[in-house]
Amino acid sequence: MATRVLIGGQWGDEGKGKIVDVLTEKANWIARFQGGNNAGHTVKVGDKKYVLHLIPSGILREGKTCILGNGCVIDPAGFLQELAEVHEGGIDTTGRLWISDRAQLALPYHKALDGAREARNNDEAVKIGTTKRGIGPAYMDKMQRTGLRAGDILEDDFEERLRQNLIEHNQLLKLHGQTELDPDTVVPEVLAATEQMKVMIADTTQTLNAAVSKGESVLFEGAQGTMLDIDHGSYPFVTSSNTTSGGAATGTGIPPHKIEDVIGVVKAYTTRVGEGPFPTELFDDLGAEIARVGDEFGATTGRARRCGWFDAVVARYAVMVNGINWWAVTKLDVLDGFETIKICVAYDVNGERVENLPAHIRKFAACKPIYEEMPGWNCPTTQARTWDDLPENCKAYIKRLEELTCAPAGFVSVGPKRDETILTPSAPADLSL
Ligand code: GDP
Ligand code: IMO
Ligand code: MG
Repeated sequence: MATRVLIGGQWGDEGKGKIVDVLTEKANWIARFQGGNNAGHTVKVGDKKYVLHLIPSGILREGKTCILGNGCVIDPAGFLQELAEVHEGGIDTTGRLWISDRAQLALPYHKALDGAREARNNDEAVKIGTTKRGIGPAYMDKMQRTGLRAGDILEDDFEERLRQNLIEHNQLLKLHGQTELDPDTVVPEVLAATEQMKVMIADTTQTLNAAVSKGESVLFEGAQGTMLDIDHGSYPFVTSSNTTSGGAATGTGIPPHKIEDVIGVVKAYTTRVGEGPFPTELFDDLGAEIARVGDEFGATTGRARRCGWFDAVVARYAVMVNGINWWAVTKLDVLDGFETIKICVAYDVNGERVENLPAHIRKFAACKPIYEEMPGWNCPTTQARTWDDLPENCKAYIKRLEELTCAPAGFVSVGPKRDETILTPSAPADLSL
């Protein structure tokens, strides 16, 4: 397959970075299409650990070209800091990293506003538990058509427009009772950072379309997950972009019919970081045990992730809205020590059985999981390298997830490293490791 979109099937942190890294071996281009440095994609290569926030995980493989598409929001200072970290990790990015001239900028006043909105303390205020990276306010400016784009950095009036935007956002900060930003400090800082970005700004829509026309392979790296999608997720407890597969087209300029394959990444259980309903959340020792074994702490904010059983209603919904062709099921090894494992197959809403995900957050919050229980496998899987190495109960668990979600598993992952990945019998014919 020449064009593959990879998205998260739950609430983010499914292990997308690891799977992108595995698939990058056979790709020419890796493109992010939405979000910003709210993402945290951890990739382990040998003994080294890299945490990518904005830069596509594909950058870790020599010779691969990476793109930040028009659907992204880019924080210049955050981007440069991350770039420096990647360089310190021994990765040469020269000529391999391009920023769409149509991508929006996430600027210091967006961050300040994000923080201010989250700090509100009145009854009407919905606290989302954002990453405070300015994502919502940056997309607000995009949608109201006042945002600054990467291409604007190259224009003579950039400084003037930046200053004007900052002054306008100071009025909003004042409304929130926050200290205004000093233009004479902030503007020069932004200019110093954007100056360094100039050499990477290009019309990536043309470049990527030309690559696709030549039959080169492109991997679209999703950030966040289906349930955090601005339209399809658990609104309002979502991020501000389209995290689902359609976002790959609008967020890069590649037409939808040129996208050949959609991969959903799901954990073998569920996690969520931030506020909002989560039907299968475990508040007991089992939840704490999953968090401990799975090392469930956010890569961007360090916050503890909420943990619970696999939710097949969510995953089925993800298959529908993304058109998922196959799953990469990650962190299977985290369930190695459990006597029994539960899967949520439907919800109970005030005595009514609900099979599909409700749109309204109040109804979703009322959903109680209806569980099916399966025996655990109670032995380590991390050493497994083939499907047949896996214990029977473990294979049965994967098979059940496939049945319940109406999509096959192509990969299962039994550890964070590249080689801790197994190709399943249901994998598409052209897929190999
Ligand atoms: P992403 O945001 O979807 O890329 O996921 P994160 O990187 O935020 O979180 C996934 C975490 O699980 C990272 O620390 C990975 O190194 C780790 N990980 C990925 N796959 C596996 C796996 O199969 N087993 C275990 N134990 N850890 C994994
Ligand atoms: P990756 O790509 C998990 C969550 C935040 C919050 C909500 C809105 O690593 O899977 P935002 O800062 O985007 O306005 O926050 O979305 N969130 C994530 N949760 N993984 C992520 O990215 C996330 N990016 C944002 O915790 O609930
Ligand atoms: Mg993450």
